[in-house]
Amino acid sequence: MDKNETYKLLLAQVKAMVKDESDPIANMANVAALIHEAFHFWWTGFYRVIDNQLVLGPFQGPVACTRIGFGKGVCGTSWKEKKTLVVEDVEQFPGHIACSSESRSEIVVPLLIKGEEVIGVLDIDSENLATFDATDQLWLEQIAEVVAGKL
Ligand code: SME
Repeated sequence: MDKNETYKLLLAQVKAMVKDESDPIANMANVAALIHEAFHFWWTGFYRVIDNQLVLGPFQGPVACTRIGFGKGVCGTSWKEKKTLVVEDVEQFPGHIACSSESRSEIVVPLLIKGEEVIGVLDIDSENLATFDATDQLWLEQIAEVVAGKL
């Protein structure tokens, strides 16, 4: 299936999944599972902003770093800049935090409230180089918007 088709279906599933559930952890857990099952990425998960740090939230994949500072790594930079970061080669990203040596490329999408306050990030890692592009960004930003809207 074309990537756009998979994402279209995924977004519909995400919306249906969170519609009647108000608990943010339950929603993040199921959304991580939905994304991970759809694409079988290396690692798919959320970090939440708690006491001025990103703290590991629900995820699918190997064990990961539990806390990331503001402006640190790809996740902390996405938080600081309030924008999605698509990293084709993590070794080329200054300050990248290697939770797993298998990770080669990454996309981090901020969870934004009213386009201003970052309350967390959606982080996806791939074991292949240059896995993510503008198409992933477009759809994952919509998924992040749905999740953020429930927090
Ligand atoms: N690589 C991320 C850290 C999180 S893990 O990939 C799950 C970063 O540089 O922020």
